[in-house]
Amino acid sequence: MADEPAFSHPTRTYERDGMRVLWEPRLCIHSGRCVQALPDVFKPKDKPWVQLENAPSNDAVADAVHRCPTGALRYERTDGGEPEAERMPEPPFAVPYKDGPLLVRGVVEVRGPDGEIQRRVERVAFCRCGASENKPYCDGSHRKAGFKADGITGVPKDLG
Ligand code: SF4
Ligand code: FES
Repeated sequence: MADEPAFSHPTRTYERDGMRVLWEPRLCIHSGRCVQALPDVFKPKDKPWVQLENAPSNDAVADAVHRCPTGALRYERTDGGEPEAERMPEPPFAVPYKDGPLLVRGVVEVRGPDGEIQRRVERVAFCRCGASENKPYCDGSHRKAGFKADGITGVPKDLG
């Protein structure tokens, strides 16, 4: 991840040898992408729901986290593995998700009204339905709001 602290909300941390995974609940829209990638590690019905000890390798965890569309999951590596910022597209790009948020991939800075950096992230999902209670980020409220708009379906491989 980039060097800016970037977390403006409570974050939970999970560790294994050579790697730390961070999860920011307010950004999780329960897409299940992490669960699909590593169902023995990301187990929403268990406590703790992230069980890194079940992962086959740090690279496997990194790949699963990389699939998180919102940036709710991030990782830091101390084993010399590739930092996520180095595997992101350059320049960054954004695509609208059908009936959902604007997904951004690539290292970007989110700045506040005064120009101050609020977050520096590799992946982020911006609300485009107007219903999020965590603007400018999507919080999953588009489903309840019945938001409809054109966009991609599924998440293409190049989105992580
Ligand atoms: S992939 Fe990200 S947004 Fe989706 S359930 Fe996992 S942590 Fe939440
Ligand atoms: S697009 Fe997800 S809450 Fe608005």
